[in-house]
Amino acid sequence: MAVLRIPEQNRKLTDTGAITSYLAGISIQYEIWRPSQPIGPDASNDEILQAYSVEIDKLKAGGGYVTADVINVNPQTPGLDAMLAKFSREHWHDEDEVRFIIQGHGIFHIHPKDSPVVAIEVEAGDLIRVPRGTWHWFDLCSDRQIRAIRLFQDPAGWTPLYTGSGLDAGFEPVCLGRTFVP
Ligand SMILES: [Fe+2]
Repeated sequence: MAVLRIPEQNRKLTDTGAITSYLAGISIQYEIWRPSQPIGPDASNDEILQAYSVEIDKLKAGGGYVTADVINVNPQTPGLDAMLAKFSREHWHDEDEVRFIIQGHGIFHIHPKDSPVVAIEVEAGDLIRVPRGTWHWFDLCSDRQIRAIRLFQDPAGWTPLYTGSGLDAGFEPVCLGRTFVP
């Protein structure tokens, strides 16, 4: 389950309902999914897509997504640092960023136009949908691993477009988990 922090207000939300409703208020969709059948850590990409096919089809129908795939990055991934550097600066896409986390951890920072930056730590079971045009950036947590289902309207739209604000440098990309007390 995700953890939501609002660093500027020194606030942390861990209650799923509170997180879902705060994020909805800044146009970010958040849900928790459970697999329709048990999936093990060695499941293939196809087995993962199959286990969540009902949820994927629902999202596809509602958001106009045409393809779903599974991305898997870990410390052994060639060029991992260069890949991460592309997404750890504030950017937006002309395409929704939809991720359902299977394994590992990550932290999204979202910069709404007229409310404080929020940090959302995601882990297995978390679905997040960042609408096109939303300013955000992403980092892995200390395990440097994430496996996630991605949905695309058009994979070509998923290029990062940078704001160049430098705002990201003011936020520690550190995952604190649910037990940290600010
Ligand atoms: Fe992004």
